[in-house]
Amino acid sequence: MIIAVDGPAASGKGTIAAALARHFSLPHLDTGLLYRAVGREVRAYVDLPDFEERAVAAARALDADAVEPEFLLGADMGTLASRVAVFPGVRAALFEAQRSFATRPQGAVLDGRDIGTVIAPDADAKLFIVAESGVRAERRALQIESRGIVVDRDAMRADIVSRDERDATAPHGGFRRAEDAHLLDTTSLDIEAAIKAAIAIVEAAIAR
Ligand code: C5P
Repeated sequence: MIIAVDGPAASGKGTIAAALARHFSLPHLDTGLLYRAVGREVRAYVDLPDFEERAVAAARALDADAVEPEFLLGADMGTLASRVAVFPGVRAALFEAQRSFATRPQGAVLDGRDIGTVIAPDADAKLFIVAESGVRAERRALQIESRGIVVDRDAMRADIVSRDERDATAPHGGFRRAEDAHLLDTTSLDIEAAIKAAIAIVEAAIAR
């Protein structure tokens, strides 16, 4: 069984995807980490003319199994990720690692932006998680603070808004909800309620 969980930055998709993976005993891949790892690799070259070329080379060289989340969670890494994610060569280079994770014999849960549309259009259950941007920024801030890292709230809000813009207007056409994805708005849901709703959506999808 493949479960695709897409949505904008800090919508709760990562937490929901991890909970679905536990509930259904499936492996989980947070695909944003791959883009973050590529962004981190080329962070010194952002404004240089060969930034795209370097980002594509870094994506091709990335060892998806060796990605270390603890270095990749900051707002600056999210911004870097969205800068490299607009390059078609980066997306193409990361496709295979995501697709082979999705098609593991035991099944998988993947979360990201284009799982239900590009990586696993054949997924058995697709969720598209949304929440208001202010709520998303606050959630992400609390999540990072819980790891003992100091968060600049204004920078966090600005990061969410600019990433939404970049993700919506990227040259590949921007991210969209797959037509067969179930919309789950978590703005006024706490995490337990959001997880419960997500499990119910997946159970209904696989029962069909
Ligand atoms: O989900 P997360 O915030 O970690 O993603 C960081 C950035 O990586 C996103 O803003 C987006 O630009 C990019 N991304 C992507 N496709 C994915 C996952 C993330 O383009 N499947």
